[in-house]
Amino acid sequence: METHANARASHTLRADAAEARERERGRLIDRGLDPDQVIGETEGNPIDVATFYDILGKMAASEKAGQSPTYSLARLALRAGLPNEIADTLFLAYNQQSAEEAGHGDKVFGNAYFSLGGTAPGGENSVFGDGADVASGLKPGDDPRENERLLGSVAGTIGGIEIVALQRVFPLVTRLCEGWDHPIARALVRQIREVVRPEESRHVLIWRYVFHQLIAPKGAAHVDQYLQATNAGRTQLVAPPFDRETFDRMIGTRAPSSRQLLGSDRAPVS
Ligand SMILES: [Fe+2]
Ligand SMILES: [Fe+2]
Repeated sequence: METHANARASHTLRADAAEARERERGRLIDRGLDPDQVIGETEGNPIDVATFYDILGKMAASEKAGQSPTYSLARLALRAGLPNEIADTLFLAYNQQSAEEAGHGDKVFGNAYFSLGGTAPGGENSVFGDGADVASGLKPGDDPRENERLLGSVAGTIGGIEIVALQRVFPLVTRLCEGWDHPIARALVRQIREVVRPEESRHVLIWRYVFHQLIAPKGAAHVDQYLQATNAGRTQLVAPPFDRETFDRMIGTRAPSSRQLLGSDRAPVS
């Protein structure tokens, strides 16, 4: 039941969003850009420059939010009672992912957003919160099995998010950039192609690695939980859940090598 207080709160939220939208439009106009120029569509809805700019701000904040939980997962991997080689590989891979998510957030999408409007993207625009809340739940405890369980469930959810980003979000942003053909959009397309997509592809490999090393050997119930965790991640980006067949195809039949996870020159010392 909606109370008067709730109605007032949601009215205020809508008014705030409209105000933020006006401010964004004003910044684009100040820089000689036409916020109403339609540059593409998604699911039949036209997308103009103002909407594209807003999407960039959300992407910058959401990518940046990936830094904290992956940084924590790296540390959790060292406390999960795993064989040394697996623990080392996961530490290095998640640490690297943490740096790369910050790079996507700040350097790629954050700087494109800044270039269009002269303002830093607001962290509050992340679709996942600022990431610190998730990270605070990932402090390793004294029980290695509990640490391993936590690692597996968060790895599934983050993998689900990464796959949606790779298969849906980056292609959409690339299409919009190509539809606009502004110098900043052209630079962004190049960075997505050369930096972001190859790095995100490796992040999806971590999702596969965790599955084959930690989850699959434990049996069907654990496999089902990993599928559910993956789908929980997809749901956060409003993507439909994987059915079992798609999941099986995406997860592959064996673990990627640590060289594949880390890039060719960064394998752990053994
Ligand atoms: Fe990313
Ligand atoms: Fe990623």
